[in-house]
Amino acid sequence: MENIIVLDFGGQYSQLIARRVRELRVYSELLPFNTSLDAIKEKNPSGIIFSGSPGSISAKNYTYQNNKQDYSIEYKNKAPEVPAGIFELGIPVLGICYGMQLITHLLGGEVSGSGSNEFGKTEMDLLAESPLFKGLKQTEVCWMSHRDSVVKIPYGFKVIASTPTLPVAGIGNNDKKIYGIQFHPEVIHTPSGMEILKNFLFDICGCTPSWTMVSIIENQAASIKNTVRGRNVICALSGGVDSTVSALLVNKAVGRKLTCIFVDHGLLRYGEDQQVEKTFRENFKINFIHIKAKERFLSKLKDVTDPEEKRKIIGNEFIRVFEEEARKIKNVEYLVQGTLYSDVIESGTGVAAKIKSHHNVGGLPADMNIKLIEPLRLLFKDEVRKLGIELGLSEEIVRRQPFPGPGLAIRIIGEVTHERLEILKMADRIVLEEIKRADLYQKIWQSFAVLPAIKSVGVMGDERTYAYPIVIRAVNSEDAMTADWVRLPYEVMERMSSRIINEVDGVNRVVYDISSKPPSTIEWE
Ligand code: XMP
Repeated sequence: MENIIVLDFGGQYSQLIARRVRELRVYSELLPFNTSLDAIKEKNPSGIIFSGSPGSISAKNYTYQNNKQDYSIEYKNKAPEVPAGIFELGIPVLGICYGMQLITHLLGGEVSGSGSNEFGKTEMDLLAESPLFKGLKQTEVCWMSHRDSVVKIPYGFKVIASTPTLPVAGIGNNDKKIYGIQFHPEVIHTPSGMEILKNFLFDICGCTPSWTMVSIIENQAASIKNTVRGRNVICALSGGVDSTVSALLVNKAVGRKLTCIFVDHGLLRYGEDQQVEKTFRENFKINFIHIKAKERFLSKLKDVTDPEEKRKIIGNEFIRVFEEEARKIKNVEYLVQGTLYSDVIESGTGVAAKIKSHHNVGGLPADMNIKLIEPLRLLFKDEVRKLGIELGLSEEIVRRQPFPGPGLAIRIIGEVTHERLEILKMADRIVLEEIKRADLYQKIWQSFAVLPAIKSVGVMGDERTYAYPIVIRAVNSEDAMTADWVRLPYEVMERMSSRIINEVDGVNRVVYDISSKPPSTIEWE
């Protein structure tokens, strides 16, 4: 498979570079900058891109750290560099920002830390006919974000772009196919950025745009088939997008050898259990076991009010139920898991993944003595969604908002009883219906209802009531690490409030949560 390696120097846009390359239908992987030359050669890349970096060539005393991985121990007092010999491989190289400075530094040019800082949009002049800028205008807008600058270019290179404040905004050596640009082509603020990447991929590296969802399905299916070789495979279905798409992909490869076990803890949103069942039973020929374990989970949760204890109980019980069912299926050697590329990157680019506990469906047992199949390991979330569509899932399913593994139990403050669960389900259903009716569902990260453990006084039809309030929560977020509350239109809130109070027994008040994360969290427990 043709591929482009992005060597990650910790720049804020490193992931985005790989995504842009993939959007152009060439497979791209992000690897740490200190990946060995042999490991790079083994991948047989068509091209290599050096990312930006918070580091500096010119810094004398310098600690390099980023939030994904800590390289500071190895690279204290030294700017991160590429393995020696990388320029002799004959593979085209594109250095972006720090990447260009590194090329300059390593090939005998000079980088200065005392030049002018530049952040934001600027106009750039293209100075020479360069294959990197094919089809571009003489002057283009680009996005800059740098402190250091190239003051002397390496031997054999030409300056190919400059800005009013930066004489060297781009360099190129056509014979060696090595290029550097100070600006960021991967961000939308560089309008011709995709053209530049296209030129690099298709003209300079000679790639073809062949990495499509269909090719992913075909490649993955062949590889899974080859791995499984007639043995049985199981999949723990949570009903979420990742496990659903994983299951469909594995099903495509091994058909009836796969059994999906949907452990339904009864704590899903209104109607979701039926939706999962319908998806699998009606649309796909798949071995599907629906374990209706609501009573089992609720009896374990009886009298439990502590949030962490709830999570623990649900996680453990999930494992027990899953194990019981898995044991009934003979000759099982593999478990399907929906690990995504972002998880792989987070746990250390390219090296064996440490799987986050929340990701493996409530933490499946470590002692299961079972091998993992992770068909989405190479994909970003939006790619998984596209794959889901290609595999026959509806937009409605692939675009679902994130939902926590412990389900509504962590949105019911205090004890989870049948009655309280029913109240929350009905209120939550109304929140979602109104969000969808206002065409906000896809624009919001998460929107839901919470049931607190208090009651307040109200008056309904001349009668005093003493009932629960419902909290509406709607947040926007990029990655769930931080979140901001959504400024929902008053009319939408009004409709939710009046419908919840009128339609849900046991509720006499509706409030809106206007806290962001931090200091609050998205969920209430
Ligand atoms: P918090 O409440 O920590 O939530 O701001 C961040 C994101 O994680 C989801 N979440 C969970 N997902 N198991 C999960 O699979 C969990 O135990 C869990 N707790 C929170 C939450 O819905 C939000 O998207």
